[in-house]
Amino acid sequence: MCSEDKGRAYKGHVLAFPYPSQGHINPMLQFSKRLASKGLRATLAITKFISTSMNPRPSALVHLDTISDGHDEGGFSQAESIHSYLSRLESAGSETLSDLILKYKETDHPVDCIIYDSFLPWALDVAKKFDLLGAVFFTQSCTVDYIYYLIHHGLLKLPIPSFPVTIPGLPSLELRDMPSFIYVAGSYPAYFEMVLHQFLNADKADQVLVNTFYKLEAEVVDTMSKACPLMTIGPTIPSIYLDKRVEDDSDYGLHLFDLDSSDITTWLETQPPRSVVYVSFGSMATLSNEQMEELAWGLHGSGQPFLWVVKASEDSKIPEKFKREITAERALLVRWSRQLEVLSSDRIGCFFSHCGWNSTIEALSIGLPMVAMPQWTDQTTDAKLVEDVWEVGVRVRVGEDGIVKREEIERCVREVMESERGKVMAENATKWKELAVEAVSEGGTTDNNINAFVTEIVLKRS
Ligand code: UDX
Repeated sequence: MCSEDKGRAYKGHVLAFPYPSQGHINPMLQFSKRLASKGLRATLAITKFISTSMNPRPSALVHLDTISDGHDEGGFSQAESIHSYLSRLESAGSETLSDLILKYKETDHPVDCIIYDSFLPWALDVAKKFDLLGAVFFTQSCTVDYIYYLIHHGLLKLPIPSFPVTIPGLPSLELRDMPSFIYVAGSYPAYFEMVLHQFLNADKADQVLVNTFYKLEAEVVDTMSKACPLMTIGPTIPSIYLDKRVEDDSDYGLHLFDLDSSDITTWLETQPPRSVVYVSFGSMATLSNEQMEELAWGLHGSGQPFLWVVKASEDSKIPEKFKREITAERALLVRWSRQLEVLSSDRIGCFFSHCGWNSTIEALSIGLPMVAMPQWTDQTTDAKLVEDVWEVGVRVRVGEDGIVKREEIERCVREVMESERGKVMAENATKWKELAVEAVSEGGTTDNNINAFVTEIVLKRS
């Protein structure tokens, strides 16, 4: 990724090791750019499969290197189960991460610190084996992290006997506001185990980094910090959208999906300002055929133009009649977009989102109101925060059959785009954007924390 820089003097060298999925690579890559802008050498370690099958954009700031997840030919799709993938990732990953550290030991820029995804707690053992600093990086909201922390330590026992549940530091939570592993008890046990295992050894890490900003989650940051001291280092959004201090590109720089060839910018320019609903469910979610059909007709019924990311694997679920009836003036369906560029267009009025944490914090940092339609994992809790805590959006009501009906989709879009309450949501979103910019700007909470983290690495080297 980064052009060769032999002889350049760095303050230290960090090796950033994300969980190999889009929602985890993006924030880690962006955080690496921020550290590089502060004089560190930053190397992002991705899996061999990702490095050979994807086409990262060259970055002037971040180096790229590879480790193995034990599935070099096909990545996750080659694994028999989630459980077997995670265990191969741990065995092959520990070995190849160690090899990488040994490789750099022979150069003039040995690694000083491993920043590892909280989903991969075994990476701390690798860091300690080589007497390096180990910093754990939490990619999800602090609220969600704290819920998992409490469950892992037996401070919140499952099943929770009654709702709403009141926990110091957190808003009052109904069952549907809980992460999906609790909301739908017994679902995805391997993932549930993984998110709880984030806290297996977090107390032994030299630093706990969370991709949020202080004012966004102040109460839970303060509460959790008493038990597990942490640093807020977010939002990890390209600097071009925030403080503009880092020489930066307009997106993260590594898409795991082929970008759509449609000219999204030209299409957006044909639409009135603040009129377009941008619809995306992130990199992992899959919707049922029935749900896709309701979504299609609900968006159509809202009367607003919309730009909808429909991944190739989801395309066959779109009704043919709908495809025939939507016109180029009213809607554009794309396979994958440069989401940040889209969100920052003045034509976008609302983000219809699954509330993955990156999408949520991107919307807040760019100042967009949302319709929240969470699917699983942390998204249900993020949707609660969007609607009731930050008051920047409306959450869809799910029917008794588990489907969000077209009338409900239409109602939610109209509420955000046309109602008085929608105007307040947009004003609130602008306020959060200003606070996000404040956090990353010189002297802001995030900026101070990142400086303190860099100092820790420099001290370790000296
Ligand atoms: C997953 C989980 O679902 C999420 O809840 C968790 O917090 C992180 O891991 P994902 O579902 O992919 O992530 O959602 P999200 O966190 O929103 O990340 C998606 C990323 O892909 C965002 O950074 C977004 O900007 C990017 N994206 C999405 C694109 O660049 N183009 C697109 O068309 C869609």
